[in-house]
Amino acid sequence: MLGDLAARALRLLPAEAAHRATLALLRRAAPLLSSAPPDEARLAVDALGLSFPNPVGLAAGFDKDAQVPDAMLKLGFGFVECGTITPKPQSGNSRPRLFRLQEDRAVINRMGFNNAGMEAAAARLQRRREHGGVVGINIGANKDNVDRIADYRRAFARLAPLASYVAVNVSSPNTPGLRNLQQRDELERLLGAIMDERARVVPAKPVLLKIAPDLEAASIDEIADVATAAGVQGIIATNTTVARPPGLRSAHAKEQGGLSGAPLFSRSTEVLRQLYRRAGGKLVLIGVGGVSAGADAYAKIRAGASLFQLYTALALQGPGLIPRIKRELLDLMARDGFANISDAIGADAHMYEAAT
Ligand SMILES: Cc1cc2nc3c(=O)[nH]c(=O)nc-3n(C[C@H](O)[C@H](O)[C@H](O)COP(=O)(O)O)c2cc1C
Repeated sequence: MLGDLAARALRLLPAEAAHRATLALLRRAAPLLSSAPPDEARLAVDALGLSFPNPVGLAAGFDKDAQVPDAMLKLGFGFVECGTITPKPQSGNSRPRLFRLQEDRAVINRMGFNNAGMEAAAARLQRRREHGGVVGINIGANKDNVDRIADYRRAFARLAPLASYVAVNVSSPNTPGLRNLQQRDELERLLGAIMDERARVVPAKPVLLKIAPDLEAASIDEIADVATAAGVQGIIATNTTVARPPGLRSAHAKEQGGLSGAPLFSRSTEVLRQLYRRAGGKLVLIGVGGVSAGADAYAKIRAGASLFQLYTALALQGPGLIPRIKRELLDLMARDGFANISDAIGADAHMYEAAT
């Protein structure tokens, strides 16, 4: 496929230059791209009051400025999450800040919320409003603002009316102190502020919290409880990890930043499983971290995810990955006798408990 050839050529560039070139290409090609064939009804998911044609989502960070959501939907994603978007534009950390760990099927990034700010994103989202499709917006705080909660509130008020759902990102490792917002008191204050704003501006808009994988079991339960009490609709698990699992082989493995891709798979799936056990039925869970094939996606769903997202595998493999994952998922469902993908949600959630 042409897209995969392009992906191979882009691999010759430094990682961030390749990403910029990909976005430029997608921006130009978007109107010419034909849409992926319609999805089989067995892959459709109803969640968060939205209809997803398939459960494969593009994770935040690929399209930080909402430049190409329609191109990504045409490539076959069931939904796209743009961002992280902050109120003011910011340039992020100094370069290099994005590293491929080819041998480990992974990436390390310390981008630091580089983005053009909420006004630029709002203008683009406004222009594509009539196009349909599920496009979520992921919001964050500017690095230099001491009042972080005020930033989330501002970004929410501006962008929520233009988004299918809003993801509140408190899990980037690359903005100092941001992850502290995952602690009970801070989280209660943040979600309280967001849900107030929601009641005022967009009462029915789904709000999800995006969390880190680097949390103790007790904190994961606490976050699930606080999110449920606040009236949030779901949790996205997980962002990148600051841990470095043993066995990484790439030269860049010791770079600072968040690790994503294959080495994140088992930890992020374990967090998901724990969330499902604690709050399944009360919160919609989106699984993300290390999905690079249908079997990985299926494992996320069986651990409790209603939907899943990916980024790193797309960067490493190219867009042929999307139809491949869907095909493999359909095969796995047929093997196990699930008529619809949603029937598999949480099928393995109690696996760990049963094994111990
Ligand atoms: C280069 C890069 C930039 C990212 N930027 C963001 C971001 O701005 N906001 C966010 O919530 N997650 C961000 N992420 C995290 C992804 O959304 C995802 O949670 C993580 O990479 C795990 O999924 P994966 O293993 O499929 O990549 C970024 C990831 C990468 C690799």
